[in-house]
Amino acid sequence: MNRCMSFFVLAATIPLMLFASVKEEPISKVIDRGLRVSTEQAIQMAKVLENQEGKLPKSIKDGKLETGIWTWWCCGFFPGELWYLYENSHSPELKKYAEIYTQRVDKVQYMTTSHDVGFMLYCSYGNGYRITKDQAYKNVLLNGANSLSTRYNPMIRAIRSWDSTDSGKWQYPVIIDNMMNLELLEWASKASGDDRFRKIAENHANTTLKNHFRKDYSCYHVVSYDTITGQPHVKMTHQGYSDESSWSRGQAWALYGYTMMARETGNVVYLNQAKHIANFLMNHPNMPADKIPYWDFNAPDIPKAKRDASAGAIMASALIELSQLDKGAEAKKYLNFAEKQVRSLSSPAYMAKAGENCNFVLMHSVGSLPHNSEVDVPLSYADYYYVEALMRLKHLKK
Ligand code: GLY
Repeated sequence: MNRCMSFFVLAATIPLMLFASVKEEPISKVIDRGLRVSTEQAIQMAKVLENQEGKLPKSIKDGKLETGIWTWWCCGFFPGELWYLYENSHSPELKKYAEIYTQRVDKVQYMTTSHDVGFMLYCSYGNGYRITKDQAYKNVLLNGANSLSTRYNPMIRAIRSWDSTDSGKWQYPVIIDNMMNLELLEWASKASGDDRFRKIAENHANTTLKNHFRKDYSCYHVVSYDTITGQPHVKMTHQGYSDESSWSRGQAWALYGYTMMARETGNVVYLNQAKHIANFLMNHPNMPADKIPYWDFNAPDIPKAKRDASAGAIMASALIELSQLDKGAEAKKYLNFAEKQVRSLSSPAYMAKAGENCNFVLMHSVGSLPHNSEVDVPLSYADYYYVEALMRLKHLKK
């Protein structure tokens, strides 16, 4: 290129570059807008269900709001979202609704049939206790930690996920999602001084680290343990495309789970595991340009495969925390990636207009595609982790 041409190329490019950088909405504005829309949607949702005893928002089915009750694994997400939004605005109306919907999951504290007690109670009562310091909430959480601990097998050194053996397919199934339930146990040890909870959580995390991961740091969804030898006898999927594929939400649970365990324990082994998982996900050739994963990284119909906004939201929230725990050169990369995900989720491609989407915030999540259940719909946990990511970013930007 001769000098004259270079000058013209430069002269044409600079205004374009300036325009592009001026056009991008500042992240602080994205956060405020996201929280504003989430608050409007959550208050409307709370009003719709206020007089329907025990009901909690689940998804949209056949164009209508689908609800669940306290027995369903997602029951804690809507109360938890309300607590985050109350923490953001201090609105008495949000506090009132956070209390009402938290009360709806009260019975979970005595539930011993589900490993999801951590999700159910720590998002609802856990956030409620963190914000209000209400002693009654603390008691519920400690009861819940006791209930969850009954599912731990000291020979296998893991908490059992599902009671079903799926017609003999599994003996003692442990799913990667179960990493998320350990936060309740870590909290309970600190709150009660009983080391038993912490040991269970850390043994579970160590067993999972050993058996759930492949060489590239992707993970299996289900590992079932032989109840005589205590060793894995099958590794497979339940909600993913295939046994050897990388089901996106499972990878996001793994990232969040080891990041949370690194925060709770200060153990560098967990931090390194989280970094390896983050790098696997961020550099995956099938990660779309907007950074919101397809429902499975190996879905056969990529790029037409459905996206999973819930996986994007969980991943964003985890990466924000990881960027604060990691003191290395990669910390900034984690934060930049999470910001891109939050921008995408806050765009019209994923975020509904206030008053639409049956009052959920995000569109386009996938519950379980192989079961043709909750495909391309809103999900209460997508909204919860999106709001959590916004709050985490907001605290960083202060
Ligand atoms: N824990 C169930 C799921 O992620 O679908």
